[in-house]
Amino acid sequence: MTTPMTQSHPFRRYAELIDDWSAFDAAIARPLPVTLWANSARLDRDTLRRLLAREGVDSEPLVWQPAAVRAAAGFAPGRHWGFFAGLFQIQEEAAMLPVALLDPRPGERILDLCAAPGNKTAQIATVLGGTGTVVANELKRGRLGALRQTLKRLGLVNVAITARPGQEYPLRAGPFDRVLVDAPCSGEGTIRKNPTAMGTDETGRSYLVNQQRRMLSRALRLVRPGGRVVYATCTLAPEENECVVADVLEEMAGAARLVPATVAGFRTTPGLTRWAGRELDGSLAGALRVWPHHNDTGGFFVAVLERDGGDDIQGPELSAPEGAPEDGLDAAAEWFGLPAGWRDGLRPIRWGGRYLQLLAADARLPARPPLEYCGLPTLGIQVRPAKLTTAAAIRFGDFARRQFVEIDSAQAGAFLRRAPFELGEAQAQNCQSGPGHVLVRYQGYTLGVGDMRRQAGRYRVDSLFPKAWSALAGKPEQES
Ligand SMILES: C[S@@+](CC[C@H](N)C(=O)[O-])C[C@H]1O[C@@H](n2cnc3c(N)ncnc32)[C@H](O)[C@@H]1O
Repeated sequence: MTTPMTQSHPFRRYAELIDDWSAFDAAIARPLPVTLWANSARLDRDTLRRLLAREGVDSEPLVWQPAAVRAAAGFAPGRHWGFFAGLFQIQEEAAMLPVALLDPRPGERILDLCAAPGNKTAQIATVLGGTGTVVANELKRGRLGALRQTLKRLGLVNVAITARPGQEYPLRAGPFDRVLVDAPCSGEGTIRKNPTAMGTDETGRSYLVNQQRRMLSRALRLVRPGGRVVYATCTLAPEENECVVADVLEEMAGAARLVPATVAGFRTTPGLTRWAGRELDGSLAGALRVWPHHNDTGGFFVAVLERDGGDDIQGPELSAPEGAPEDGLDAAAEWFGLPAGWRDGLRPIRWGGRYLQLLAADARLPARPPLEYCGLPTLGIQVRPAKLTTAAAIRFGDFARRQFVEIDSAQAGAFLRRAPFELGEAQAQNCQSGPGHVLVRYQGYTLGVGDMRRQAGRYRVDSLFPKAWSALAGKPEQES
């Protein structure tokens, strides 16, 4: 049922911008459709759709996003085993738009200035196909854990994390080929996901607008000449959208320009060129507004900008992570029978004391700000024998030719809950090297690592699935 447009309606001030008020009002009262994208390092979209269909979940491909699908109502993807195996990422359809317009290319150096919980970072890193450099920056340390978990769960090898205020990001870390500013905002467009946590008052708005302007301005100084900056928010408020971009274009005095954006197969409306009596730069019509009722999504705003001048570019000052001895990796590869070339395009590094990491060989990491995370933690080196991490098992385990067990649905449930389970003799047939670490596979996809033993004539596996992920497996739904 739609709400009449009363004085108290939270979006009343946008009434003149909305082509069909009842459709808009009905859309924001409905739950969001479930949309996902396939992790191309593990499987393609058709394979993901077949896998879901076997479990009775219908899905439709999104015509404008090559890896993405919309799943049937009622599907809870955050509880599905494929989520924990990093087969897919849950992301609201409209939220896929900024990275589509950022248009990252393999080998590039990309900064995601406001990154947690990492959906768009993961999208960028995946489109880069494990090459190049993605620097994921996030101010709030309390949100770094969620960001790290996203990167590990998807087995991403080309990402480093930093934690600085985006508006003060060191210029020497640049230039980047592209910078994404997915700005903190009043979140009006997320009302379908979170009906109570939206909007802001005037004081809150002016704080946000000040941050947004400074971050966009910084992003344009961090990108190379000709490089691209995408500014995005999930709010409908023109003060945080077109007005921010107009202010920054003015400040850049011709050194940056707005590039008209279009997305075939996804309905948008042009950015505003006038708001609250203010005339804005006419080029803002080339920005995109996403209204919830046009594509059955949340609300979004995206502007694509390109930098022209490049006077204040000083960097990049690069960090050279210490190389790591390769014998531990070779031993793990031998144990699991990983094929020759399993880590082509990656270099082993030592970063932090606990793990040996694999990082994209062409990654160019900034020397400053300091890194909070770097590359894919691959081997836990504080334990003997060194343990292949769950993240590395997810990334490489499907290629292993020995020391893997294929489990059934009840065993997979136990593994994800970190409960021990028994194996039948036939399930242990690929473990001729004997007891020890094994890759645990379900439906042919690696879920993680277990510790297999022979006890009283039976095979028993202790789950080494990470505690933090296991706790998530019990929660009602994952953040999208
Ligand atoms: C819209 S969310 C980003 C969502 C993320 N890009 C994704 O797709 O998963 C904005 C993020 O910016 C962070 N943030 C807030 N102020 C910031 C600042 N000054 N510098 C950098 N990040 C900031 C917030 O903590 C929040 O995680």
